[in-house]
Amino acid sequence: MTLKRSDAVELVAVDDAVLDALVKVAVEDASADDVTPPLTADGSWSDERVAWLRAYHRDRRSGLAGPCRERTWAVRAGGTIVGAVRLAAGPTGDAAAELGIWLARSTRGRGVGAEAVRLLIGEASASGVAALSASTRESNQAALRILRSAGFATDQPGPDGAVEARRAPARTERA
Ligand SMILES: CC(C)(COP(=O)(O)OP(=O)(O)OC[C@H]1O[C@@H](n2cnc3c(N)ncnc32)[C@H](O)[C@@H]1OP(=O)(O)O)[C@@H](O)C(=O)NCCC(=O)NCCS
Repeated sequence: MTLKRSDAVELVAVDDAVLDALVKVAVEDASADDVTPPLTADGSWSDERVAWLRAYHRDRRSGLAGPCRERTWAVRAGGTIVGAVRLAAGPTGDAAAELGIWLARSTRGRGVGAEAVRLLIGEASASGVAALSASTRESNQAALRILRSAGFATDQPGPDGAVEARRAPARTERA
């Protein structure tokens, strides 16, 4: 797939047609471990992982106020579904909401991730979510660059390389 930096990036609701496209791109062009929990020991796609992915997005259609307290969107770039983002409310009303993102391999490195996170922060703000958190790894330079340029402060990596990032509510979306 050819994607130019100028191709529009959008966050779209995960209806059934979008979910089919999302599952297809996930299985064909993303690592199962980037998209689902480690349900298969060798990190490969399996029927169980696909079923998990479908149920995960369907169950989150009720959004932050629903029973899962989480909402997902598909990322569309240049008219094509290329990945997904999520926003999960914290355990209490004032706790930071956690964001997550994965993109198809062939889409990476073209600015889509940075734009999708910028849009997700806008969605969070519109939903009244002030503070945000994210978890990544020291080795994930693309994620760290996106988070830092979006105003997240990152902790020192833990002994296992895990990095926690937080974005304080005082920061506005104007930049
Ligand atoms: C992390 C991820 C979403 C980044 O998306 P992306 O579209 O490739 O990122 P972008 O093209 O917007 O690049 C963002 C920044 O990282 C840099 N970057 C991109 N790939 C990089 C790499 N492999 N190594 C170092 N820097 C990289 C870009 O140059 C850009 O830096 P800049 O803002 O200074 O120009 C994507 O790689 C992905 O889906 N990874 C698998 C899942 C994952 O790790 N999710 C993150 C959990 S928080």
